[in-house]
Amino acid sequence: MKKLFAANWKLHKTPAETRAFFKAWKDKAGSLSADRAQVVFFPTAICLEAASQELADAGFEWGAQNCYFEDKGAFTGETSAQAVQSLGGRWILIGHSERRSIFGETDELCAKKIKKVQDLGLTPMFCIGETLQERESGKTFDVLKDQLIKGLAHADKTKPLAIAYEPVWAIGTGKVAGPEQVQEAHQFLFEQIKSMGLSTATPLLYGGSVKADNAGALGKIPHVDGFLVGGASLEVDSFLAIAKAAQ
Ligand code: PGA
Repeated sequence: MKKLFAANWKLHKTPAETRAFFKAWKDKAGSLSADRAQVVFFPTAICLEAASQELADAGFEWGAQNCYFEDKGAFTGETSAQAVQSLGGRWILIGHSERRSIFGETDELCAKKIKKVQDLGLTPMFCIGETLQERESGKTFDVLKDQLIKGLAHADKTKPLAIAYEPVWAIGTGKVAGPEQVQEAHQFLFEQIKSMGLSTATPLLYGGSVKADNAGALGKIPHVDGFLVGGASLEVDSFLAIAKAAQ
């Protein structure tokens, strides 16, 4: 399977900075093997049009960091997956831990968004992960199972989906999960999606303080099909180094 490298830019970059990044990226990323690496960018909503223009026919995909589960209506401040699709976006990130902890998103809300995204023919990248407290109290697997069952309650098992495992305590902290922790979580997720009747080809990404110097080792762990990268995806060289180390 190709490895999937996803860049979550969070609330970073203006449209001009987005264009400058993609110009530099296109200059340098030619050495990535298209057979071995698939790359997806998640800029802010206001920078999606810049992504659409800069990445047209460039061989790299992009999408939004969030969407609402309705296409239109009185939902001030929301992002429409249909509008993302109309610009050529193929992906939507759903349920990132910052959406959950700062904006109060629940698995039930994620489930509605995942259905909308799949109905439009786009691919949801559903983020799950335990907090430090949950891990320390031995609840990691229960939490992951619960998030999968609730978040995928309306998912179409025949349509594309990706799952990003991001331990909350490893996001933006520099504390990457240890290889054994990543391995047992990804093994668990693989078994779980199989028992839920989802495709075993569903990409399972790891996220949380991924950098060029840990990507190579993490990428060799069974059932780690790629990475969701925050901080280290903001610079062309560091994101490219991750993809090269792990492709
Ligand atoms: P990080 O973020 O790579 O900066 O830890 C990952 C994420 O939040 O997706």
